[in-house]
Amino acid sequence: MSGLEGKVAIVTGAGRHRGLGKAIALRLALDGADVVIADLGQPAGRQFPAGLVGETEEMQSVVADLQATGRRALAIACDVRDESQVEALVARTVEAFGRLDIFINNAGIGYLMALVTETELDDWNAVIGVNLTGAFLGTKHAARQMIAQGSGGRIVTIASQAAKSGFPYASAYTASKHGVIGLTRSAAIELGPHGITVNAVCPNHVTTDLGAWQNEFFSRATGRTLEEYLADMRRRIPLGRPGRQEDTANAVAFLCSDDAQYITGEALNVSGGEEVH
Ligand SMILES: NC(=O)c1ccc[n+]([C@@H]2O[C@H](COP(=O)([O-])OP(=O)(O)OC[C@H]3O[C@@H](n4cnc5c(N)ncnc54)[C@H](O)[C@@H]3O)[C@@H](O)[C@H]2O)c1
Repeated sequence: MSGLEGKVAIVTGAGRHRGLGKAIALRLALDGADVVIADLGQPAGRQFPAGLVGETEEMQSVVADLQATGRRALAIACDVRDESQVEALVARTVEAFGRLDIFINNAGIGYLMALVTETELDDWNAVIGVNLTGAFLGTKHAARQMIAQGSGGRIVTIASQAAKSGFPYASAYTASKHGVIGLTRSAAIELGPHGITVNAVCPNHVTTDLGAWQNEFFSRATGRTLEEYLADMRRRIPLGRPGRQEDTANAVAFLCSDDAQYITGEALNVSGGEEVH
């Protein structure tokens, strides 16, 4: 699938090579779009530690891979919880590449895991802040720019299987991901008349850096070895394997293509059949 020539995309949380965001950004570039990747750029305290967030050097290296496709690419540091930074991200993209057609809310954290009875309010707020408020701010400022341009647009939020089902140790994460489905449905109704589609994609497990952290955490929490945990995971997925970064990128590319022009307000499972509603 191609057809994104002349389009400009922003992908948040795309500063890590193994992440879903990089795979999405690369696919959009291969389909013809110029792409801005946004990420934190540096660790920020206990909740955003080194090793779990996209730092400047890795962001620049992701940009080099995007530019190798022949498309223009740029990295911009942005904390998606901060409205002025999200506004500036959109403004700097338009300044650099002239317009904005596609916005992917991909930034998310899924490593502040605790039982609901043990969850600190600070951690709850951090998870909701990135995963839900961040998606709201991205949707708001992307839509404003797309409305002003008057030629439609595409907004896609990377939700999760946890947008449809509950998971232990993950009440904040699950609530945030259920929340983005509500955001998606409401924004789709409001933005439809402007030709802007708003959808969510719900992947099951993918072994990104975050996914690898979660495998370690959940195998320990459930008293299994990592191999036992992964074997159990494979057994319950009808298609017999966890997701790959490309599976999510393919779904996003479809939702950004002309072929998906009549699809909006959806929350599309990309889960090998593990999630069916
Ligand atoms: N890996 C999975 O199994 C899986 C499954 C379903 C959904 N998801 C979702 O996919 C998205 C990408 O996750 P991933 O697995 O690629 O993990 P990842 O950790 O590689 O990517 C998430 C990125 O978000 C960035 N980020 C965190 N806080 C931020 C902030 N305040 N502002 C800007 N950027 C910030 C991180 O630095 C990181 O680069 C997330 O929303 C995640 O919840 C992942």
